Amino acid sequence: MGAERYQSGFGNEHATEALPGALPVGQNSPQRAPYGLYAEQLSGTAFTAPRHANRRSWLYRIRPAAMHKTFVPLPHPHFHNRFDEVATPPNQLRWSPFPLPQAPADFVDGLYTVAGNGNAAMQTGCGLHIYACNRSMQGRFFYDADAELVIVPQQGRLRIATELGVLEIEPQQIALIPRGVRLRVELLDATARGYLCENFGAPFRLPDLGPIGSNCLANPRDFQAPCAAYEDLEGNFELIAKFQGHLWRAAIDHSPLDVVGWHGNCAPYRYDLRRFNTIGSISYDHPDPSIFTVLTSPSDTSGTANVDFVIFPPRWLVAENTFRPPWFHRNVMSEFMGLVHGEYDAKAGGFAPGGASLHNCMSGHGPDAASFEKASAIDTSKPQHVTDTMAFMFESRYVIHPARQALESPQLQGDYQECWAGLRKHFDPRKP
Ligand SMILES: [Fe+2]
Repeated sequence: MGAERYQSGFGNEHATEALPGALPVGQNSPQRAPYGLYAEQLSGTAFTAPRHANRRSWLYRIRPAAMHKTFVPLPHPHFHNRFDEVATPPNQLRWSPFPLPQAPADFVDGLYTVAGNGNAAMQTGCGLHIYACNRSMQGRFFYDADAELVIVPQQGRLRIATELGVLEIEPQQIALIPRGVRLRVELLDATARGYLCENFGAPFRLPDLGPIGSNCLANPRDFQAPCAAYEDLEGNFELIAKFQGHLWRAAIDHSPLDVVGWHGNCAPYRYDLRRFNTIGSISYDHPDPSIFTVLTSPSDTSGTANVDFVIFPPRWLVAENTFRPPWFHRNVMSEFMGLVHGEYDAKAGGFAPGGASLHNCMSGHGPDAASFEKASAIDTSKPQHVTDTMAFMFESRYVIHPARQALESPQLQGDYQECWAGLRKHFDPRKP
């Protein structure tokens, strides 16, 4: 521990070597790579993607990724991409915190699918899962060919050893893992729980800023890619692949985390959500929550995301003569929310860290009755400091379908709609 190092800058052309001179100079695939390493390209976009969107890295490794035995199916009781199991209700949905495992479970064992949309074969949509585990992955490695991964810890620190180096994250930080990158998730605390988004679509990028200018929101320099760190291990290991909605396992006689040097812009990152530069209204009204977008996975329709990752961090509310919490709304986009810690300012209770909510296309929602009454009466000549909170949202253009197990789980709050039942009728035609 402690030897991990990082390099800054989202999408930068990184270059890193764990041994001096591991990277060839001036070319990618020399006849013989330094140290007897194999050169291997990892592409995160089509070769011909426009330059500004193109992602690829060159890996210099002890053995090529092709070296493993035949994959066979690996059944998993709770993790899948079956988003058409049951009719999707237009109900607003909310879940209490999902439980930690009773039996020993590592990151892969402890995956539990809550919802999702699109599909991996069409490279659209996302899978939305909970991870809950109590031990490190031992002797096995995982990669997801279907998706880029966003890991959002809610409790417990993780050490994520990847092919390209090591990321350590804690709650209020996230990790972003490119499609296909092999990894081993280790626990730095007794238990860990959080959220996992599988992004089947275009890789996440920073949103355009328009008139905001060249700074604010998530600044590129705050994204940290790992420096190269390899292990030269031989033994009886297991390589787990997520491919076309299913898990597969293959024997592998060495650690695939054997990249001694790499360069390129297809890289895992960690990002500290506390570094997000939050902007908002300094006059009146509550702007659209798109100003809280950390990362966006665009679809083929401009401005209409496959999936956005949005956060609601601590911030000042200063808008005058304004209903300050999120307003009542029905959106064409569908919203899956989670809470890392604290409270979310539009709800007085029931939305707890480790839980989730889902508000699909055109399902009306907004502050609960208690939050509405409070915000309607507050003195808006005084600023308000929202502290001790970190909520987030995965928002998608495609309706998000809850999984059967999530709809049948004891965590589903059957009385969620009641949070709006207490909204009183204030209308009086005699009082404009
Ligand atoms: Fe919403």
